Amino acid sequence: MDLGLAGKVAIVGGASQGIGAAIAAALAAEGARLVMWARRDPALAEAAERIRAATGAEIATVLGDVRRAEDHEKVVGTALTRFGQIDVLINNDGAPPLGLLMEFDDDAWQRAVAQNLLSVVRLSRLCVPSMRERRWGRIVNITAVSAKSPIAGFGLSVATWAGLIGFSKTLSREIGRDGITINTICPGRIDTDLSQRAFRRQAEIAGRPLEDVVAEAMERIPLRRIGRPEEIAAVVAFLASERAGYLTGTTIQVDGGSTESLL
Ligand SMILES: NC(=O)c1ccc[n+]([C@@H]2O[C@H](COP(=O)([O-])OP(=O)(O)OC[C@H]3O[C@@H](n4cnc5c(N)ncnc54)[C@H](OP(=O)(O)O)[C@@H]3O)[C@@H](O)[C@H]2O)c1
Repeated sequence: MDLGLAGKVAIVGGASQGIGAAIAAALAAEGARLVMWARRDPALAEAAERIRAATGAEIATVLGDVRRAEDHEKVVGTALTRFGQIDVLINNDGAPPLGLLMEFDDDAWQRAVAQNLLSVVRLSRLCVPSMRERRWGRIVNITAVSAKSPIAGFGLSVATWAGLIGFSKTLSREIGRDGITINTICPGRIDTDLSQRAFRRQAEIAGRPLEDVVAEAMERIPLRRIGRPEEIAAVVAFLASERAGYLTGTTIQVDGGSTESLL
């Protein structure tokens, strides 16, 4: 299937490793031009180089922190200066710390809101005008299954991503007439550095051996395995494509079947 992404310009966050790097690689393989961003080099430059070598894609990289407004302007400014347009915005990065809700202070909450919610609000505000010019755009957010089915210890993300899902559904109703879609993916356990850290921290919070926590998580996944970053990237590439033109305002879990609910 031709996804119709050749020549499109995509901004991909958290692109130096894990899910973001896999998304960047999938979009580049479809012929998209990329702005990849994250906080640190050499990881970001190396990821971009690997994707350039594999696909020949045109790629700009930007170092920035998703919690900082000036970095959002830097990222969007780079896309417009280098490529003259923005067609696809992928909102992906790390995650706020795990821990019990009653133990976080206002500062931790403000950082979590800045990371998981305000960043998407600002980046959407900055990118939608360029998408409107061509009456075509795709915004895809990466959250987690915990946003649909809360897990103790993940509260900062659960609460802020619930806000993001509300923002996205509302925005879908306001920008649909411009040919712009916005959808949210909720990954389950995916094999990245972050999931290894999350397993260790969950074991710590529960005061249980790591092996038990991992084994229990596997039991809850009908497909009985952890997902691969490429399996998230494939769904994102579809949502970002011409082919997904009638899909907007959705929240889709890609979790091996682990979410225990009908919605
Ligand atoms: N892996 C899973 O099992 C899983 C499950 C559900 C949901 N998710 C969600 O999927 C997203 C990606 O996770 P992942 O597993 O791919 O994580 P990862 O392997 O740790 O990669 C995170 C990426 O985001 C960048 N990043 C982190 N904090 C950032 C910040 N403040 N500003 C800008 N960039 C930042 C990192 O680079 P720098 O550190 O250099 O900035 C890196 O490129 C996260 O939101 C995570 O919560 C993951």
